[in-house]
Amino acid sequence: MREEPQEDRIEQQRVVDEAARRRTIAVISHPDAGKSTLSEAMLLHARAISQAGATHGKAGRRGTVSDWMEMEQARGISISSAAIQFEVGDVIVNLVDTPGHADFSEDTYRVLAAVDAAVMLIDAAKGMEAQTVKLFDVCADRGIPIVAMINKWDRPGKDALELMDEVRDVTGMRPMPLTWPVGMSGHMVGLRHVESGDLELYERTAGGAQVAESRRVDGREAEEVAGADWSTAVDESELVTLDGGEYDRDAFLDRTGIPVLFGSAVQNIGVAHLLDFVRDEAPAARPRLDVDGNPRAVTAGFSAQVFKIQANMDPAHRDRLAFLRVCSGVFERGMTTQHAQSGRPFATKYAQQMFGQERQTVEQAWPGDIVGLVNASSLRPGDTLHGEDAVRFAGMPRFAPEVFALASPADSSTAKKFRKGIAQLAEEGVVQLLESERRGVQTPMLGAVGEMQFEVAAQRMQVDFSAAMRLSPLPYTVVCRVDPADVALLEGRRDLEIARRDDEYLALFADLWRLRALRRDMPDLVLEPLGRAIDEATGAAPRRA
Ligand code: G4P
Repeated sequence: MREEPQEDRIEQQRVVDEAARRRTIAVISHPDAGKSTLSEAMLLHARAISQAGATHGKAGRRGTVSDWMEMEQARGISISSAAIQFEVGDVIVNLVDTPGHADFSEDTYRVLAAVDAAVMLIDAAKGMEAQTVKLFDVCADRGIPIVAMINKWDRPGKDALELMDEVRDVTGMRPMPLTWPVGMSGHMVGLRHVESGDLELYERTAGGAQVAESRRVDGREAEEVAGADWSTAVDESELVTLDGGEYDRDAFLDRTGIPVLFGSAVQNIGVAHLLDFVRDEAPAARPRLDVDGNPRAVTAGFSAQVFKIQANMDPAHRDRLAFLRVCSGVFERGMTTQHAQSGRPFATKYAQQMFGQERQTVEQAWPGDIVGLVNASSLRPGDTLHGEDAVRFAGMPRFAPEVFALASPADSSTAKKFRKGIAQLAEEGVVQLLESERRGVQTPMLGAVGEMQFEVAAQRMQVDFSAAMRLSPLPYTVVCRVDPADVALLEGRRDLEIARRDDEYLALFADLWRLRALRRDMPDLVLEPLGRAIDEATGAAPRRA
């Protein structure tokens, strides 16, 4: 057997070590649960910034399209909205941003394809909210381990045990508290470390702008300091841990258990525990599956997958950024890679990364890291780039469209630009382009997971393609996939419309009544319900398709 050259062995060991140091995570939450505040607090603890408020302009936080667009514009090349890297001890955390707007979009879901673990942030007063549950489902589909952080404990909210029940009921996983609040929500004195039994007492800081001061008190002396709040915290946390909720890393990794932390992002309470957990317990960069379902070892040659395409909203630099997650090997700026989908070479001269507050040119990146490539107009979400050792990763999940509209140019003289723009946005995955025999080329049908995608598409058409578009909503709410061979059977039916999405056919219904009517008329027809239609077929929550 031929000996591997020593440099190769050293290089491989370096890749193993660097991959083992990476924690690539996202925070999933309902808007307003405190995701931006928590992200800032994490950076503050990691000393990547010196004061809260430094990374997220207030203006960009709200869920409206105009705020979102303004935010993108203000940022110019908006790398910061994709991922921020910071160090916690000797571990490197890549915090991948899930766009925080109020509506659902496919973009948010695709981002989760890039991470190895997620933090589920829950508002203590609101519990498990709709978007949190949806994002949780996507993590479940992808097998992503989750740690829950109950936020805003400085304000009146639900009871801690009640929240444990809610987490258990909605996630189906057993809650494993790592800390327990001492004092009811709104009257928090500190946190009980479940494992050591110690009390951590917090001093409040003005507006949480600095890292909160805390003091560890031995569990035996805690009652003197915290009185009845302490004994309640001990009793309640033991009720949960003795009922199978003792922390177990395997349960976290195989998603039978969900570690839970309590805190207040705005007061920087509990954030250090979260970071310690991410450092010590979250999985390192893991091998990704290729199209054939085989794991690609992190030590294999360079490979990366595109998970997000972002048009640069700054008119002075009209280009597109592709964000890649490095899956194996070493990325070196300037290396020529191959684009697996087209077979063409792909240069990587303009590679960037966000480290703390700074946008930097990235020279090298390792498995788990996120790299932004400027001018990557030929890349699409899900695409693979690789070095000499070829690979192709399984594509991105697609989601059942839940809202539909017909698009047309607002001004007919822009018809050509309009068609080009629509095709481009569909390729980027901003909206889905659906073809229907009933509609002409001038009025293509668009599908999206939420209205927000339409609004973003309309703005992009105007700004990027100078082709303002008009959207007329279509009444469809229920979608099923149909076998191409059956499409002819459905022609002429007025209670549905057939739309083609790439190489598959979808039957669109205005409501479940019409779907049921079709089932009665044609009981042998195979219909695969997607999205909301699954509710009726299986009683389960809507899922991706
Ligand atoms: P998001 O990114 O998830 O949408 O949430 P964001 O961080 O913007 O927080 C939403 C609101 O919740 C903000 O209040 C924020 O200050 C507040 N918040 C976040 N974490 C905590 C917490 O631990 N405790 C309390 N009490 N509030 C928290 P806002 O009134 O919209 O803005 P602001 O003027 O207070 O900054």
